[in-house]
Amino acid sequence: MIMGLKDYYKNYFPVGVAVNTHSIKGNEASLISKEFNSITPENAMKWAYIEPKQDIYNWKDADSIVAFAKKNHLRIRGHNLCWHEQNPSWLFVDKNGNQVSKDTLLQRLKAHIFRVVNRYKDAVYAWDVVNEAIDDDSTKFLRDSKWHEICGEDFIDSAFVYAHEADPKAQLFYNDYNAERPEKRERIYKLLKGLRAKGIPVTGVGSQAHWSIYEPKQDELETTIKEFASLGLKVQITELDLSIFPWEKSRRKKNPNENDEYSDQLKAKQAAQYKMIFDVFRKYRQYINGVTFWNVSDKDSWLNHYPVEGRKNYPLLFDSLLHRKAVYWNVAQW
Ligand code: XIL
Repeated sequence: MIMGLKDYYKNYFPVGVAVNTHSIKGNEASLISKEFNSITPENAMKWAYIEPKQDIYNWKDADSIVAFAKKNHLRIRGHNLCWHEQNPSWLFVDKNGNQVSKDTLLQRLKAHIFRVVNRYKDAVYAWDVVNEAIDDDSTKFLRDSKWHEICGEDFIDSAFVYAHEADPKAQLFYNDYNAERPEKRERIYKLLKGLRAKGIPVTGVGSQAHWSIYEPKQDELETTIKEFASLGLKVQITELDLSIFPWEKSRRKKNPNENDEYSDQLKAKQAAQYKMIFDVFRKYRQYINGVTFWNVSDKDSWLNHYPVEGRKNYPLLFDSLLHRKAVYWNVAQW
């Protein structure tokens, strides 16, 4: 038998990957079932995909991903139930285009969560219930989103309560990025501590882990895992990729002189970073109950388009021909 990532990590944690309807067909499909034992739908379970028009549902893509997972005996992480992005345009307004009330929005959230969670109850073992609620600005707490504007902080509590009612057995995660940066980590910690104190049914915290060869540093990563675990929460790495560029958020055009060559020096830095983070994951396996990569290969990483359109990136363990890269072995062998 040829071993895959899931086999190397058999005694540690499930190893997952984000998929779309394209990656569950053909060569990528066989790679996925060989290497991974968990999947996350990259987009197919987001609100804008599931209910693009009010009361008009599009289950096709999500259903086909769930069928693929069942056929290949893969775990499924549901992603996600409440976020400030990729929402349908009708969600926050009434038929006349006026902003809806808090009651109406929470009713919509409840109906959505019940509908989606119930549909995939026998398949999805964990949900990202609330995604990215903390602001990027370190002087602010919650992000200035429509959810926050209309509902105040209550939308977070409510989302978890509804998800737990819909499926009491599902693991429920709060998921965010840059969780290892001290100022953001402290704000995520504060949010989660508050949820725990109120008895809100949150079981874990997802660190998206859209990282780079420059961050996080080992001590930042270790401190983050230990702090979150100290709240009695499970920790998952939910959207792992290691960009060869420093982190950026705003979309922009590629500069004409911007170099996106995957040099030997960058490969060496990336190899060291991949080795370090998996050393840490193994060290803290008692707290970590899943590690998921965001996309299968460098061919279709979302980072080839975001935040810089057309700038090639090389963040994953498989190259554009779906072959294992040298860096694969920094993860699979120790
Ligand atoms: C990304 C997808 O990968 C892209 O295909 C899509 O265009 C935008 O969303 N944080 C998340 C994910 O929680 O849902 C995002 O996925 C990446 C950042």
